[in-house]
Parts: sequence; C-alpha cells; structure tokens
Amino acid sequence: MDRPRRVAILASGSGSNFEAIVRYAREHAWPVSFTLLTDRPRARVVRRANRLGVPTVILPSRRFPSREAYDRALFAELQALEPLDLVVLAGYMKILPPEIVRHFAKRMVNIHPSLLPRYPGLHAIERAFRAGEKKTGVTVHWVDEGVDTGPVIAQVEVPILPEDTLETLEARVHEAEHRIYPRVIGELLGLPTDG
Ligand code: GAR
Repeated sequence: MDRPRRVAILASGSGSNFEAIVRYAREHAWPVSFTLLTDRPRARVVRRANRLGVPTVILPSRRFPSREAYDRALFAELQALEPLDLVVLAGYMKILPPEIVRHFAKRMVNIHPSLLPRYPGLHAIERAFRAGEKKTGVTVHWVDEGVDTGPVIAQVEVPILPEDTLETLEARVHEAEHRIYPRVIGELLGLPTDG
C-alpha cells in the first residue's frame, strides 16, 4: 500500500482532468509521483502543472523534423521515467505509435467524452448533442492501437436534458470525467478512493 507509485500523464489542452487527478491524489494522500508530458508548450495544462508543482516534460511537436522524430523523443522520455505504474492520457490529442502502445500494454488508460463505442474521435460531446441523443457519457478504457477502441474499464452515463445547450452539456460531461477518472486510476493503482 505504501509502495511509491509512478504515473505519467500525457495532455495537450486545458488539463482539467490532469488537475482533478492530481488534486484527488493529494486529498487522499496517495504515495504517487506524477510527471506531466505535453506536446504543447503553451497549453493551459502547463500552467496548471506549474501551479501544482508537478514536474513537466515539454516536447514541442512542431520543433521536430518529423512525426517519427517526435514519437521517438516521446518514447525515450517515457522510458526514462520507468518504472511507471501507469500512463494516463488526459486530453492528449495525438495518436500514439504502436511501439509505445505495445510497450505500455495494460499500463495505459484514456478518457473519452462519450459512451464508447458511440462517438469515438474528435468533438464527441457535440456530435452526440447534435444527433439528438437522450444520453451520452464518459468512458475510461485501456489504450490499444485503435482510436478510442480499447477495452472499457468504466463508463458513466450523462443524460442530455431538453433544456441543455452544448455548453451546459459539456460542463456536465467534464464534471463526470473529473469524478470518474481519479477514482478509476486509484483503483488501478490499488490506492484508497471514496467509491
Ligand atoms: C476531455 O473531455 C477528454 O475526455 C477528451 O479531451 C478533453 C480534455 O479536457 N479526450 C478525448 O476526446 C480523447 N479522444 P482537459 O484537457 O480539460 O482534461
């Protein structure tokens, strides 16, 4: 229980899930050291990590001569952080190459804002909303070589209410993400959660 755990979080955007995970870990006194890896130096997640004192590895993807070179550098940074208990994708907006996915098989999770297998890929909340669905939700799943296709670990439904706008729905889906993701990560790491 007290063995220190090592977790890498990959994120490209706002980082609200990153922050929810780090805060939850601290509230529950988890023995976890986090490292953020990002492809976007100017992303809001970098500012959140600085504020929370989480070490950050920035790999500005545009500065690499090719996507392969960027992916090689990312893999090297992840391997330098080994032994890693878990790699957490939290709004990381690039598809990972098969070598990285295979290396971290059953050690890499992703969160997606829909009830997979419905609405994989980009703009999942908006597409469910515009399709007139009565419900959408959040999925946490193991990462495999497809896009949002790996085995589901946990799902939570979010109703789409008649009075919803896209903005109110997005806010509720994100709240659901912030509730479910830290708990699932805790369970996978064998650490205390509040259910
Ligand atoms: C989250 O809604 C997450 O589910 C989604 O990106 C957002 C990141 O928000 N991920 C995907 O769509 C992956 N296919 P955040 O940067 O505030 O955590």
